[in-house]
Amino acid sequence: MTKYVGILTAGGDSPGLNAAIRGVGKAALGLGMNIIGFRDGFRGLMNNRTIRLDSEQLSGILTVGGTILGTSRDKPHKMPVGDRVMDMTDVMVDTYERHHLDALVCLGGGGTQKNAYRLMKKGLNIITLPKTIDNDVAMTDATFGFDTALGIATEAIDRLHSTAHSHHRIIVVEIMGHNTGWLALGSGIAGGADVILIPEIPYDVEVVAKAIRQRSRGGSRFSIVAVSEGAVSLPVAEKIETLIALKAAAKSSDEKSEAKAAIKALKREHSDNTWKLSRELEALTGLESRVTILGHVQRGGIPSAVDRLLGTRLGTACAELIQEEVFGVMVASQGETAVPVPLDKVVGNRKSVPLDHPWIKTARQVGTCLGDEV
Ligand code: F6P
Repeated sequence: MTKYVGILTAGGDSPGLNAAIRGVGKAALGLGMNIIGFRDGFRGLMNNRTIRLDSEQLSGILTVGGTILGTSRDKPHKMPVGDRVMDMTDVMVDTYERHHLDALVCLGGGGTQKNAYRLMKKGLNIITLPKTIDNDVAMTDATFGFDTALGIATEAIDRLHSTAHSHHRIIVVEIMGHNTGWLALGSGIAGGADVILIPEIPYDVEVVAKAIRQRSRGGSRFSIVAVSEGAVSLPVAEKIETLIALKAAAKSSDEKSEAKAAIKALKREHSDNTWKLSRELEALTGLESRVTILGHVQRGGIPSAVDRLLGTRLGTACAELIQEEVFGVMVASQGETAVPVPLDKVVGNRKSVPLDHPWIKTARQVGTCLGDEV
């Protein structure tokens, strides 16, 4: 019997998404399935906005950045509708049933895995793929988008070197990655940053300044500081820990919302951390400092060969799993193989950089300061 498959992309876009859509789509068509795309993530599933994915639509998209389906950060259970926020999961279940779908493929990062899991709990046949430039999805060695972003951030650090050197300046370059440091650490090592600050290692600004002063004394009167957007100083890390403990120990809902609000306020305050760090380093070292925020440029443009390969590999494996009726799983990359892992093992488990990860040791061995010791 012909199988009917829906596919959507949700959360932040990332290079390699179209390669994955093409991988799922072409392999599914090859197996005699029918496939439709939903536009703009879970919102398209709610509004039943679809796009037919035939071989014509799927051709010519392998090298294209972004997602031909469009995406959004909308969550099924907290959907802004007019001026209200509503739980629209049942409406999405209706759309799934209206199309007589046998499976829904959701391509996304940690948030999408969670949202897809919610739909799975409502009885839908869900299968997911891991995408994000942050590389922070649990149970998979890699997520598509990371390699391209790593290349972009590395090239930016390369380019910042000559201008920092010419002006004898510090350049603090902010790199995406949400609450994990994969992107900053990887590009920092590959680009030869002098200091790399990641969320997993809270930093001491005095230590960073000392490392920069040491370089100056050694004749290198410039420094590149690669800072992850989620990196925090030691005092901020302590405050966050206290608030998280308060939230966990809260006895009443009032206490819990108070702690939640305090965490939110702290995060807001932290949003201009890179600028603050730059000012502090200027004051502590006597060197001029400039800030470069790479931002969404890291998510744009042509996907790297590695991301195209990964997206295609996981996408085609996904179609095979649908054929075998394996649902409630994420198709993970483990070594050279694509492995189905139960969604409940993925959801709620962020993959941070382990403190004993070889990249951390490598960075230290080439003399890079990680903000905790010179
Ligand atoms: O998750 C990918 C990511 O690019 C993060 O690195 C970053 O924190 C976030 O998305 C930015 O989100 P938005 O595109 O919604 O501004």
